[in-house]
Amino acid sequence: MNRTIPINAPQIGKEEIDAVIKVMKSGILTHGLGAGPAVTEFENAFAKYVKAKHAVAVNTGTAALHAALVAANVKAGDHVILPSFTFVATAEVVVMTGAKPVFVDIDPDTYTVSPKAVEKAITKKTKAIIPVDLYGLPADLKPIRESADKHGLKIIEDAAQAHGATYRGKPVGAFADTACWSFYASKNMTTGEGGMLTTNDAEIVEKVRCMRSHGEKEKYMSTMVGHNYHMPEIEAAIGRVQLKKLPKFVAKRRANAKRLSKWLEKTKKLKLPAEPEGFKCSYYLYTARLWNAKKEKRDKLVEELRQKGIGAFVCYMNPIHLMPYYRKFGKYRLPETEKASKQVFSLPVHPGVSPEEIDFIGKTALHLLR
Ligand SMILES: Cc1ncc(COP(=O)(O)O)c(C=O)c1O
Repeated sequence: MNRTIPINAPQIGKEEIDAVIKVMKSGILTHGLGAGPAVTEFENAFAKYVKAKHAVAVNTGTAALHAALVAANVKAGDHVILPSFTFVATAEVVVMTGAKPVFVDIDPDTYTVSPKAVEKAITKKTKAIIPVDLYGLPADLKPIRESADKHGLKIIEDAAQAHGATYRGKPVGAFADTACWSFYASKNMTTGEGGMLTTNDAEIVEKVRCMRSHGEKEKYMSTMVGHNYHMPEIEAAIGRVQLKKLPKFVAKRRANAKRLSKWLEKTKKLKLPAEPEGFKCSYYLYTARLWNAKKEKRDKLVEELRQKGIGAFVCYMNPIHLMPYYRKFGKYRLPETEKASKQVFSLPVHPGVSPEEIDFIGKTALHLLR
């Protein structure tokens, strides 16, 4: 191989470039309340795609999560339950509201939050739960929904990695009060940076739209503290084109993942990604696990793969509860999270990876593991 196969890469074509030029020529680059024509068109198309009543576009997935928590009335003194095995943004937004992040362990087979651990962590202070669809595999939302309903809690699903994934036959987000999506450059579909929030609840939409635009429903009439979370029109135009391509992107990721598993099934040293009955993974990351191995062995394998031109990557080598800033939120015992963080690694399956490259990745990994 004379190129490094990146772990993820934006798939941008002429259609996206033409869409950007069209917006630039239109002279409308943004909108005072964040709801320009391209943004509105993208929101409507995205809501339809995920079968939600409403969608609100914002400038990052982090902004979507923050606005969702504010709209759920999460504030200082509240507790929010979430996994520690996720990107730091999931926890960061909780701290931004003044609430306390309460970290719980994962299921060792799927790496998503354990519904039993969630139920066990609920107290009178709990206000919301943030399950994460990690690597594109939906979190097991049905039992979490049951716990939330029993205790009157809101669910904000972090679907940043799960465009195109389904759970019990429905797009992810169907069992949550709000789902939050990211369009960061590495994601299954991208706008460069960008985010979206989807929900069936009109009250949430109203608050989030206000939050997106300095607390304004009307210009210069703020009714709450907000932010500037506007998505620019150029990004929305890119997103509209990417959304049309998303089903093909996800199909390619799934075909690549299947082909890679055919190779990697030949070794007993790896645990391959799980896809339980009723779950459809979008394979944002194809994540394997080196069974019974120490961290050093996993790190060595990742380094050797990289030397061969394969952009292997570890998500996440440092669980959030062990990060310097987040230690102050408590001493957590999360054995499955800590074990997984030492053993997992991801391999490229994005739509730009050819079948021949998948064969190369599979053969190389097998050779290094022999
Ligand atoms: C699980 C998860 N949550 C939240 C985010 C934050 O999204 P963004 O980078 O668009 O702010 C990301 C992606 O970066 C993510 O992977």
